[in-house]
Amino acid sequence: MPEAVLRIGEKEVSLPLMTGSVGETAVDISSLRDETGAVTLDDGFANTAETASDLTFVDGEAGVLIHRGYTIEDLASEASFLEVAHLLLFGALPTKGELESFVGSIQEHLHVDSAIRNVFSAVPQDAHPMQVLGSAVAALGGHYADDLDPNDPESVERNSYRLIAKLPILIAWAHRAREGQEIVDPIPGADYVANFLEMMFGDGGHIDEQEQIAAKALDSLLLLHADHGQNCSTSAVRLVGSSGANLYGAITGGIFALSGPLHGGANQEVLEMLASISEDGGDVDKYINRAKDKDDPFRLMGFGHRVYKNFDPRANVIRTTAEEVLNRLGVDDPLLDVAVQLQKRALEDDYFVERKLFPNVDFFSGIIYRALGFPVDMFTTLFALGRLPGWLSQFKEMKTDSSNRIFRPRQIYTGEPKRAWLPMEER
Ligand code: CMC
Repeated sequence: MPEAVLRIGEKEVSLPLMTGSVGETAVDISSLRDETGAVTLDDGFANTAETASDLTFVDGEAGVLIHRGYTIEDLASEASFLEVAHLLLFGALPTKGELESFVGSIQEHLHVDSAIRNVFSAVPQDAHPMQVLGSAVAALGGHYADDLDPNDPESVERNSYRLIAKLPILIAWAHRAREGQEIVDPIPGADYVANFLEMMFGDGGHIDEQEQIAAKALDSLLLLHADHGQNCSTSAVRLVGSSGANLYGAITGGIFALSGPLHGGANQEVLEMLASISEDGGDVDKYINRAKDKDDPFRLMGFGHRVYKNFDPRANVIRTTAEEVLNRLGVDDPLLDVAVQLQKRALEDDYFVERKLFPNVDFFSGIIYRALGFPVDMFTTLFALGRLPGWLSQFKEMKTDSSNRIFRPRQIYTGEPKRAWLPMEER
């Protein structure tokens, strides 16, 4: 078996190498501490593979994203969001019959207990929608107390259908409750994304042509977010789930991890940034200079990625989609011009070139969400809806992996060594 040799002081140890299906190499350090007493230190887990996974391959240097062997470009142009959800969850593109049965299983769970609405009235109107969504998903888990066993694959599958069915309902309800509008129930049998848009903005009646155009655009955006390897929120889902916590607890953990501005929250931040640049006269150079200034906390939101050191392939697809959607909906959004200018200037600038900072998935997505009528602070809930199949598939994969253990990283203690106890009056 191929191995790596590591010398610590006088001691030399051999560590096994593992090779992934496209040639990535990992040094398996699980025996390192037992053999040498040393642990590895890796800030932000930038160089740590937390698991082996069959789901998603990202080649950050080449700008490649693959789900179960299919490129994101092919999936974005050919597949629907639910087809990709099936692919991630079950490992294969569905046949027509399999897709119908998958959609049918989701449709069985369109009812949300009205008691969940109390979550929306329990928070002030200015609570962030991600806060509300996380609370609602946690509360939802409480409704299935007798069906939460994370080690029962059938229960995990059933709860996965429940979550796919109910997340759009919770997002739409949260929006309408905040706006003081009547709740619109899902239409049984309607298209997944069109139904969501109708619950958000419609009256539960007919889905018209504009909504169908909007639904198609949103479907492809959700698809582009469906999974992305061991990103922060997915790692949170696995970490929470690794303790034996149930699926709702793990997904709630994922939702809150996603909410941060360095992760999914960036889509809201990008749009707010573009709007303030526009209000400030549209001087993109000023903001490029601010982003480069180490004394200024401002960052170019929607730029940079831990893994992509080349174009984020999702950003390419989203930019084209943004232009198409604005055209088809007849929307002229000046913020798209600001975004295009900003991207152009950044890509010509040595600071961004040297650091390999490119637009990421969040850079253009907000322009589309805005054109579809979503309030800016709802954007990250759409990322959550898109990422849900990935979270569910990763949870399922972890639970069926016999090598799964509780996540329990080590640390290097840098605090005070032992100190003598100080009585209160001597401190
Ligand atoms: N604007 C200006 N400078 C940046 C930016 C940016 N957006 N991103 C990174 N840098 C600089 C950073 O200051 C550092 O410079 P130096 O080497 O001189 O200290 C260098 O580039 C490396 O940055 P880092 O923060 O060490 O990189 P990271 O891998 O830890 O962070 C990131 C990745 C995505 C958090 C970061 O690029 C960032 O904050 N971007 C803006 C927020 C954003 O768009 N997040 C969405 C990420 S993609 C979708 C998702 O995961 O949700």
